[in-house]
This record gives sequence, C-alpha cells and structure tokens, in this order.
Amino acid sequence: MRAEEVKCPAVWIGGVEKSYGRVTALSGLDLAIFPGETVALLGPNGAGKSTTIDLLLGLSRPDAGEVRVLGEAPAEMVAAGRVGGMLQTGQLIRHLRVRELVSMVASLYPRPRPVDEVLELTATASIAGRDTTKLSGGQTQRVRLALGLVGDPDLLVLDEPTAALDVEGRRELWAVLRAVSSSGTTVLFATHYLEEADEHADRVVLLAAGRVVADGTPNEVRGVVGGRRIRANLPGVDSDELAGLAGVAAVERRGDAVVLSCTGSDAALRLLLARYPTACDIEVTAARLEEAFVELTGAGAGAAGDPGARR
Ligand SMILES: Nc1ncnc2c1ncn2[C@@H]1O[C@H](COP(=O)(O)OP(=O)(O)O)[C@@H](O)[C@H]1O
Ligand SMILES: [Mg+2]
Repeated sequence: MRAEEVKCPAVWIGGVEKSYGRVTALSGLDLAIFPGETVALLGPNGAGKSTTIDLLLGLSRPDAGEVRVLGEAPAEMVAAGRVGGMLQTGQLIRHLRVRELVSMVASLYPRPRPVDEVLELTATASIAGRDTTKLSGGQTQRVRLALGLVGDPDLLVLDEPTAALDVEGRRELWAVLRAVSSSGTTVLFATHYLEEADEHADRVVLLAAGRVVADGTPNEVRGVVGGRRIRANLPGVDSDELAGLAGVAAVERRGDAVVLSCTGSDAALRLLLARYPTACDIEVTAARLEEAFVELTGAGAGAAGDPGARR
C-alpha cells in the first residue's frame, strides 16, 4: 500500500526503520490512522512507542521508510499547529502563571485556539493564575495538554500521558481527553497499561520490538493478549476446528499439544471437553500481558521480528 492510495490519513507510517547505534528501536513499522480515530499505541517498555511518537512530532527522522502526518512532513504540521503533542517527560517553564504560559505558546501558532477556551477544555481555568511551580502532578499534565491543544490541532499525539499520575489525576485527564476526541480531534496515545487502552481507545495497536504485532478493537486485541490460555494434549485435531470453538481467539499447535488463546476460557473449556473427551493434561493459565508481548513478537515474526537480525 502506498500513501497516495489512501485518502489523507491522519498518520501514515510505512516501512519505518529506526536504530540508535546498535539498538533497533523500530523494525519495519507500518501504521495508518484515520481522521477521528482514538488509537492506543500499546506496548511494554522498549517496544518503540516513544520512538514512534518522536517521529510523528518531527523530533527525529526515520533511517528508512516514510512518515507523514495529515499528508505532510511532521515538522511542518507541528509548526503549523495542526499536530499537537505531549512528550513522556518534560517540565513547564518555571515561575510563569498558567495563563501566561498558555498565551505565550499560543502566540507561536498561526491560528491558535482562544486561550480561555483551552483553559476551560482542559479544566485549568481555575488554576489560570497559579504559578507553574505550584501545581500538582495532575494539574501539570493538564497544563501540558493545554499547550498541546492551543495550536488547535487536528491530531493530538500523547506519550504515556498518565504514567506518573494517581487515580484521581488519571480520571481527570481522561475526562479532558474524551472531550477532545469527541470534538473530532484524532488522538494517538502511547501507554503500557492494557486497561487504559481498553477503556479509552476505539482501536489498539500493539507494538513489540519495534513492529505492530496486533491491531484491532480493544476486544479483539484483549482476546489475543489478555485472556486466558488453555493448553491440552490433543493429537490429531485440526487447528481450524478448534479455532471455531466459542471463546477461542487463536490456536497454536505444539506437537501433540494445542494452546488455545481464549476470550472466554470457561465456555471454551466446556466445549473442548464435550467434543474431545480424549483431551488430557489440561492447564488453564492467565495470559500475562508482558508474556503475550514476547510470545506475539517471537511467533509472528521470524527473522524480521528479531531486532538483532536486522542490524
Ligand atoms: N536515545 C536513545 N539512545 C539509545 N537507545 C534508545 C534511545 N531511545 C530509545 N532507545 C532504545 O530504543 C528502543 C525503543 O525505545 P522507546 O521508543 O523509548 O520504547 P518505549 O517508549 O516503547 O518504551 C529501546 O530498546 C530503547 O532502549
Ligand atoms: Mg516510552
């Protein structure tokens, strides 16, 4: 697929490779995001989430492949205010009042959103007169978000926006982000919390070792990585047949054994026993996210998925 064949996606990443010295951060990354979507970029530490976001914000360039936002080069769109971002770490300029800081950043953009509107939207109007060094963690993140929104972007890109926040801070930030996405802004956020992706995204892109290993609705992806697994000894039964059982998302055969990744392990187990009474040595385990990441990368990938193989 080439960029021209798709009607101006909000994000277009095609065959991107990115290394830091001998460390491969992105290894053949492909991703298209369409206007209006709210997408979680989910993956364990080191998966390449921040590297991807840096590329989308024009902070670095790919070694190979193509990165476009809103059909153009990222840096241009960021400068024009059409893409807003919030990096994983970063501080506010110290000893300014919140409104002064937001106004100052607004003045850098050609078509800024009215400052009062942005303060209202991000629930920072009540702290507009406060010094930037006197804010809680949650307030700081909301002000950082205000800075990402003041250029009036069509696309908002956030790197682990809630990572350092307590429960209340998270809840407040998500309330703001929901308002932003329901007003039509395309939102891409990186997270390593499956629950956060599940709750707040309409699409989850699972990243491991610098490439996409699953992509779908939260339900689809959770079915692959977050459900339970049933392992059983069951020689001679066709994988496709097992994949058709209610509650089974994927089937892998390992010699005489089969491993069923389940969205509904209770239903799957009952059906398995009813239809295949010879099944034995049955184990049911919770698929842990980190484990599943490793498994998905190793399984789907072969040499191309091994970052070391591409140096
Ligand atoms: N500036 C850098 N120098 C060297 N290695 C880096 C740098 N930034 C990231 N990496 C490496 O690239 C890989 C992907 O990192 P990153 O994109 O930060 O992942 P994530 O955000 O998913 O945790 C990791 O192996 C990381 O150690
Ligand atoms: Mg990161």
